[in-house]
Amino acid sequence: MKAAIIGYGKMGREIEKILAERGHETVLIVDADNASELDAAHLSRADVALEFTTPATAYQNIRRCLESGTAVVSGTTGWTARLAELEALCREKDGAFFYASNYSLGVNLLFRINRRLAALVNRVGGYDVSIEEIHHLQKKDAPSGTAITLAEGILAESDTWKGWVVDASAPENAGELPAPPAAAAPERISIRSLREGTVPGIHTVTYESEDDILQLRHTIKHRRTLAMGAVIAAEFLCGKRGVYTMDDLLK
Ligand SMILES: NC(=O)c1ccc[n+]([C@@H]2O[C@H](COP(=O)([O-])OP(=O)(O)OC[C@H]3O[C@@H](n4cnc5c(N)ncnc54)[C@H](O)[C@@H]3O)[C@@H](O)[C@H]2O)c1
Repeated sequence: MKAAIIGYGKMGREIEKILAERGHETVLIVDADNASELDAAHLSRADVALEFTTPATAYQNIRRCLESGTAVVSGTTGWTARLAELEALCREKDGAFFYASNYSLGVNLLFRINRRLAALVNRVGGYDVSIEEIHHLQKKDAPSGTAITLAEGILAESDTWKGWVVDASAPENAGELPAPPAAAAPERISIRSLREGTVPGIHTVTYESEDDILQLRHTIKHRRTLAMGAVIAAEFLCGKRGVYTMDDLLK
């Protein structure tokens, strides 16, 4: 497989190592200082592009790959309000596009357990639910895409919860949104974002009743697991047409 890496930051560098380990060739590396090289001529050398950049640049980068006819795997978070537009463009161009808010196998297992547990809690009732995510200080978006996916999973299985809300009592969120008065938004799942050191990612879903606390937690020990998932997604996407997610890969 010949790969292009778009975004040569923490993830791009880890992906480069794993591509080499798995016998693939990196034929193009595009970062902010050579962003003009992201064009059809340069992309034509690659079978697939792996895009891990910033919330402000991901949409255009993926769009350029799809318009150039290059299969693209993206994991950039914080921009996905426009994801459906790119999925439509991919289908229109008969291209190939894989997106996941989290490429860790363990997190994707957590997504499934999360939905199962939400369905069970929905049946028994009596629990309040909240989500906490902790990431490194450089992370640009909050809440994390993974926390939002967890919230959406609970919402899909629940008759009680109608949406999610940022917990403005977390220091990083102060000022972004006003703290919701507890009584005013009882049907919203609260998501608390914390930023600490170099933490690659910790997600905790907490159910609390009057009598007990039940928690699901996933901790990423090394960023390598995320990069490995993205490279496996690229291998899966090569030669295919269409829009794919981790659910397709895990089947
Ligand atoms: N889906 C997942 O599993 C997963 C895992 C880790 C990180 N992420 C997300 O991936 C993104 C990148 O994470 P990171 O930790 O590598 O961040 P990072 O800040 O270390 O790297 C981002 C890189 O993108 C570059 N960049 C900026 N604008 C660009 C442009 N126009 N063209 C090309 N490159 C450009 C920056 O110079 C930087 O090198 C973030 O949104 C993060 O939340 C997702």
